[in-house]
Amino acid sequence: MSATQRKRILTGSRPTGKLHLGHYVGTYINRVRLQDEYECFFLIADLHVLTTKNTRDDIAEIPQNIRDMVLDELSLGIDPERSTTYVQSAVKEIYQINLIFEMLVTVPRLSRLPSIKEMARNAHIEEEQMPFGLLGYPVLQAADILLPRANLVPVGRDNESHVEITREVARRFNYLYGEVFPEPEVMVPDVGTLPGTDGQGKMSKSANNAIFLTDDAKTVEQKVRGMYTDPARIRADIPGKVEGNPVFAYHDAFNPNLDEVNDLKERYRQGKVGDVEVKRKLATAINAFLDPIRERRARFAAQPQLVDEILTTGNERTRVIARETMEMMESAMGLHYFR
Ligand code: TRP
Repeated sequence: MSATQRKRILTGSRPTGKLHLGHYVGTYINRVRLQDEYECFFLIADLHVLTTKNTRDDIAEIPQNIRDMVLDELSLGIDPERSTTYVQSAVKEIYQINLIFEMLVTVPRLSRLPSIKEMARNAHIEEEQMPFGLLGYPVLQAADILLPRANLVPVGRDNESHVEITREVARRFNYLYGEVFPEPEVMVPDVGTLPGTDGQGKMSKSANNAIFLTDDAKTVEQKVRGMYTDPARIRADIPGKVEGNPVFAYHDAFNPNLDEVNDLKERYRQGKVGDVEVKRKLATAINAFLDPIRERRARFAAQPQLVDEILTTGNERTRVIARETMEMMESAMGLHYFR
């Protein structure tokens, strides 16, 4: 199938640091898998970072984070031959589309979103200090998604409400000015969100409970050894809880040996296996999963110009489409006078 016939995906991540297993389970599985079926746009959402971190020092970290992220994505199987990876701030139409979309969403609709409140809380921002731009985070995300007129958005569950806003924006625009945008579908993973190694909420860098794709084998072993399990189980002969136990959530996600996993669960429930064995087998499984990713990453990292080339090409390709979309918008709106 040629690129023009394929439906489009747009999805992205903020360049805040290295990718971890939670990112993989949450969205990268889907991204990698769909590259043949869809024309894929993978956005590096550097402007979204500014919603919570915008000092000179914060910004100075972004380029290295982008490099790390692109290498991580390549090592997971994102293929620059088939897919387009680009930097949000390098495609200037995003600012224009964002402004037009700001008129299509109400403030109360955005204020009610738990995701925005959570981001503010994580960034230690008080209610009265809420930046206009953080409130507008989902509007900018809608602009991202609709810029290439995407049909499908694979994201983690925490982003579902933002895709819903995107659909409302698309509908509103089309209603006011005529059909320009598809109403994009969301795709979330069937498996739940991967918990952190501390068992307290989801895996995230800021919570310091993440296993990174770039962790070496020793680090993985250490982190797994320190993982939270069933706290009631103070001895190996006490029956343990498998459900809600992060160690088993990871076994389910990363251990392809189902017989081994089922056997461990069975014995855990009966109080017939020690945590040490369960964790040792988990560390082995995670390291086996990460080994080919580590190899690929080393290979890509050895090519000094690679990331720059991928992003330059991606930015260029996306700009062409962005200009097209901007023209469609302005002409639908009648916003093309005195040019
Ligand atoms: N909000 C996403 C995150 O949690 C990043 C993002 C920005 C995004 N724009 C997007 C995801 C567009 C999907 C589509 O990091």
